[in-house]
Amino acid sequence: MKRAFPFFLIVALASTGAAANPERETLLETYAAEAKATDPAFAGFTAERGETLFRTRWAGGDERTPSCTACHTDNPRQSGRNAKTGRVIEPVAVSVNVKRFTDYVDVEKQFNRDCESVLGRACTAQEKGDYITFMKGQ
Ligand code: HEC
Repeated sequence: MKRAFPFFLIVALASTGAAANPERETLLETYAAEAKATDPAFAGFTAERGETLFRTRWAGGDERTPSCTACHTDNPRQSGRNAKTGRVIEPVAVSVNVKRFTDYVDVEKQFNRDCESVLGRACTAQEKGDYITFMKGQ
């Protein structure tokens, strides 16, 4: 019993560390600062808005990709398939893919490409932060 406590403490710290990846948190802070700069009323990201962004069928983008789910599927914990090239895409949910949203350059490149393809425009900083917040909980 005496030894059990430190063991659980280590497990708790290790799992907190995995959930709160420092690169991902920095990325979210960057988007939050950007969102605040464009809208002083910005009050934080929400997973609900992120999910809506993910599932909405938009008009204005490429007709092969009306929504994010066209390639990333309805279930972010599953592998996707690129609707344009047919290539397999690794799951986007952080719970199954801890590397997700940890590399700023990759994430920005992909947001630019995918938002243009689906929405026909760039995503805002708030939309990007909402999306990552949703995927963090998936
Ligand atoms: C045409 C297919 C396609 C569509 C539609 C699509 N994506 Fe992607 N997405 C990809 C591919 C391919 C990658 C890169 C491969 C990978 O990261 O596994 C990717 C990766 C990403 C990444 C990078 C994640 C990381 O950890 O580096 C983000 C962010 C992203 N997508 C956001 C979105 C959003 C938001 C939408 C909807 C607005 C969307 N995607 C719709 C194909 C797509």
